[in-house]
Amino acid sequence: MTFNYITGPLEEIKVDTIVLFVPAYKKTTNPSLKRLDKASGMAVTTLLDSEEFTGKQGENAVLYSPDGYQSRRIILAGLGEKSDLCPDSFRQAAGTVSRHKGLSGSAKAAFYFDKYDNEAFFQAAIEGYLLGAYTLLEYKTGEGKVDKRKIKSLTFAVAGAKSLKKMTRAIERGQIIAEGQLMVRDLASAPANMLTPRILAAKAEKLARTHKLSCKVLDEKQIAKEKMGALLSVARGSKEPPRFIALQYKGGRAGQAPVVLVGKGVTFDAGGISLKQALNMHEMKGDMTGAAVVLSTIVTAARLKLPINLVSLIPATENLPSGTATRPGDIITSRKGLTIEVINTDAEGRLILADALDYANEYKPQAVLDIATLTGATLYSLGYAGAPIFSNRRTIISQLQAAAGATAERVWEFPIWDDYREGMKSRIADLVNSGGRDAGTCKAAAFLENFIGDWPWGHIDIAYVDLEPSGKPYTPRGITGIGLRLLIELLSHWKKPGK
Ligand code: BES
Ligand code: MN
Ligand code: ZN
Repeated sequence: MTFNYITGPLEEIKVDTIVLFVPAYKKTTNPSLKRLDKASGMAVTTLLDSEEFTGKQGENAVLYSPDGYQSRRIILAGLGEKSDLCPDSFRQAAGTVSRHKGLSGSAKAAFYFDKYDNEAFFQAAIEGYLLGAYTLLEYKTGEGKVDKRKIKSLTFAVAGAKSLKKMTRAIERGQIIAEGQLMVRDLASAPANMLTPRILAAKAEKLARTHKLSCKVLDEKQIAKEKMGALLSVARGSKEPPRFIALQYKGGRAGQAPVVLVGKGVTFDAGGISLKQALNMHEMKGDMTGAAVVLSTIVTAARLKLPINLVSLIPATENLPSGTATRPGDIITSRKGLTIEVINTDAEGRLILADALDYANEYKPQAVLDIATLTGATLYSLGYAGAPIFSNRRTIISQLQAAAGATAERVWEFPIWDDYREGMKSRIADLVNSGGRDAGTCKAAAFLENFIGDWPWGHIDIAYVDLEPSGKPYTPRGITGIGLRLLIELLSHWKKPGK
């Protein structure tokens, strides 16, 4: 599928199907709509009178072969209230229309932005289109595997002439970012038998070769040599050996301290000896979404040529019960040297992140951000609607909030209070890995805090927001791929946080 950019009136665009973005309206005053109304025997007025199409978000209506137009199908796509107009209006409208049969059945199609000649709107529209049209075909066979979409080219058009360079760049950026998010969906949707720690490492190595990143993979022996006792304690329950993956991208000045990203890579979380219940356990194949995000983020940053030095660290393991598995009550020693009493083997994410956060010191980072499907408790705080964030720096919180505003990937600041720190202390070891059910999300963050170095740190808990239970305009049911847009936006405008 190719994307291109043109300018001119709606009448002259020669493709099979045009999508015309329309904000909510009460009268047909918009010139493009007015002309279309006349050419279609007042069809636009009829749609408005019957309230079949009023420009509300999510609405679509089709006009066929209006007089004097080069296209035989024009799909109106509602943007919602004018006063609320933002990039996400376009992302949502493009997502909804991406599944319209008229659009997907056309070889040549166009998005008509009318007077909205705004780069952020272009970028959001292509993101919405690609994200909304996503279906996972990989594990189907025969007919089910065939992508039925006919679309070969998608043209982006505005009424008046605008900088070709700027608009084309916005389309390219949107495409690269959407592809990055789709990579997260593909990886996190992969079943655990097809994405083991070793397979994940092999995929990372292959991506590194393609995008000219450096990549180092530690096997179980090297992990032991690094004294990553917390990661090893989780891996003990499985025959599948763990891997520790480190990728590096150097887009910034030589010698500039990198931003280190850490992603939780539990390729399957059965809970270990503290076994999870069967209901929904299959969803724990997605417990490596954080890993998928940091892997895809570094690839996407390289594709966008972001002027920054980045490292992505992925501790990858399964968490299974077995005769060799870590038992509740066992005391383990982390890479940092802190001892941990394992109260609940299902609190494994924080264990593997602890060793990865400590390993981040090797890079003398300017900041470290970790992202993880860490605590089920997020279901009861923010649900599927947003991600709890924690940081030891105001500037990281505000940068994350700004990125969330621009990408519509919501975050909300949570506290690490002394009560939570107290709750993670062990009577017999330095720490416990589980401090009870209350404030589970905050206590997990309080645990991680013990393993950070003398650097700015941010923690993003994406449990549950990584899953869409029913389906939204550009988020089909299943793995959302949240975090990718957020981190890319954050790193695109990154400002070094103070000491
Ligand atoms: N991977 C889970 C968290 C999770 C649960 C993510 C549901 C998405 C959906 C994590 O490893 C876990 O099991 N956490 C426990 C910790 C508890 C035992 C302290 C939890 O949150 O229940
Ligand atoms: Mn768990
Ligand atoms: Zn887990």
